[in-house]
Amino acid sequence: MLRFDHEELALMPSLRALYAADVRFVEVIGKWLIALAQSINARPPALRLLDEQRASGWFDRSDMVGYCAYVDRFAGTLAGVERRVGYLRDLGVRYLHLLPFLRTRSGDNDGGFAVRDYGEVDPALGSNTDLASLTAVLRAQGISLCADFVLNHTADDHAWALAAKSGSVTHQDYYHRIADAGLVARYEATLPEVFPMSAPGNFTRVDALDGWVWTTFYPYQWDLNWSNPKVFAEMSLAMLRLANLGVEVFRIDSAAYLWKRLGTACTNLPECHLVLRALRAVAAIAAPGVLLKAEAIMPMRELPRYFGSGGRGGEECHLAYHSSLMAATWAGLATQRADIVASVLTRSPRPPSGCAWINYVRCHDDIGWQVLAHEAAGHGGCAPFDLDWVARFYAGEVAGSYAQGEAFQSQGLEHAHGSNGMAASLVGLHRAIASGDAEQQQLARRRLLLLYGLCLSGAGVPLLYMGDELALGNDESFRLHPQRRLEGRWLHRPAMDWVLADAVDAGDGIAAATHATLRRWIGLRAAHPELAPSAPLRAWTDPGSAVLVVARGENFLALFNFTDHVQTLDLRTPDHGDAWFDVLAGCRCLSPLRIEPYGTHWLVRQ
Ligand code: GLC
Repeated sequence: MLRFDHEELALMPSLRALYAADVRFVEVIGKWLIALAQSINARPPALRLLDEQRASGWFDRSDMVGYCAYVDRFAGTLAGVERRVGYLRDLGVRYLHLLPFLRTRSGDNDGGFAVRDYGEVDPALGSNTDLASLTAVLRAQGISLCADFVLNHTADDHAWALAAKSGSVTHQDYYHRIADAGLVARYEATLPEVFPMSAPGNFTRVDALDGWVWTTFYPYQWDLNWSNPKVFAEMSLAMLRLANLGVEVFRIDSAAYLWKRLGTACTNLPECHLVLRALRAVAAIAAPGVLLKAEAIMPMRELPRYFGSGGRGGEECHLAYHSSLMAATWAGLATQRADIVASVLTRSPRPPSGCAWINYVRCHDDIGWQVLAHEAAGHGGCAPFDLDWVARFYAGEVAGSYAQGEAFQSQGLEHAHGSNGMAASLVGLHRAIASGDAEQQQLARRRLLLLYGLCLSGAGVPLLYMGDELALGNDESFRLHPQRRLEGRWLHRPAMDWVLADAVDAGDGIAAATHATLRRWIGLRAAHPELAPSAPLRAWTDPGSAVLVVARGENFLALFNFTDHVQTLDLRTPDHGDAWFDVLAGCRCLSPLRIEPYGTHWLVRQ
């Protein structure tokens, strides 16, 4: 039985707006509706039960904490991940994002983001049966599995791409094939470049197609033509097949790029939002417990639309990465300025009901600086700052920098694009350990905890990046790997160190200490409903200091000293009241509160 009562309201208008002018629409959508019904009928009983149990915004709880990892780097295979579920549970994880695990392109594959078959787990990582088994085990532990839905492009050895190369016009139309070099140049005139150094341009010449194919990312990632209703039909069904294997959250990869129009940047176009709205409706009809999470690494002004822009919003993705906040936190740390983060937090729109930001410190990608261009130019209500300098800081190229990272895709010393490196290396922890300087180690450790303290106390679902809980550092081994050596993002994709992880309870080193602190803070977060994603947030910088104050409701304050010197905060002001308990330190606060360099405090009103 199709649940078309409410969702149809969003589905059919979106589909009609996208495709009604296409002569194939009626036939394609007619057949697709039958397949949709079959997918609904095939949904396993355990997942139907989950659908029924889930109310809107079920993830809006302070114990909702995510963890992101590559399957192979974390535990070898999906079965290996299953054996490590206890580790995640113990850390307090409720949501696991496993980076792409579907059958991938042979050879280089952008860490799995070049998918060859959307219906099959990559044999190197396991099987569909292993996936269903893992999702069942996770579900039993109250952990939701998130998978990437790489829908902007397929691998160039996907069956559709192979058919296109063999001359199938039907399949050529699944992609953007352009025969005219002049048209390619006209598109390029307004297009940004995602990998300007390693994959310049947005098109790749393919002789078998006697023309160019649109490749926003690497030449082997062919952009799908979402203006073709067959692409919508095939891809939405692929998503539902994965949902029926127990995937509960889809990370909508490269969400901003789905639609192309000459003369524009081909990002964030209205039709792109219609596609997301239609996919959301499909999920709501056929797998209502499932969430969509937008990966749109775009300036903040573009982000709220990924939640939906209709009257009440919330018709597109349930979750969206807050990339501006992530980048602003790193910029604030380098410049020792709390106001950059305060300005981003103050201007962050509150997501519609049933939606939430994803807050994160690091992920498998670089820290992209361009999302902050507007703020850096002084338009965000804070004084301007220099993003090129920030990128150089994290590359360890400015005097006084403690960071051990690298610039990514930056053209020379100007035009900062992104920065690579594990959080612990970017905050200088491993350099300090190597130097044996205990004071520097302490400062670096505080910087790492400040980043996670903010992530865990902000308004959103916090996401830990694999290895940060053990303060793992950069992995230089990619430089010897034939396919990875030119892809700097592998610097922060280390293998999990299970020797360290298995010893956290007994160990006394930096890994054990970081793990213990983060586990405790995750527990404290869970115990404070004021920290639920949608609970109110106000942020400001204390006028007398460079301390960021984040208030969650009336009774919870999180304080962050972004500088390398002690700050004091008068807690007896009307804003602060006077009786506070420091939940991280486990003691009553004395006013004025002394905040150590890069110190973090969470205070609860007594
Ligand atoms: C997303 C992924 C990134 C990948 C790109 C192309 O941005 O996070 O790792 O390179 O999409 O699929």
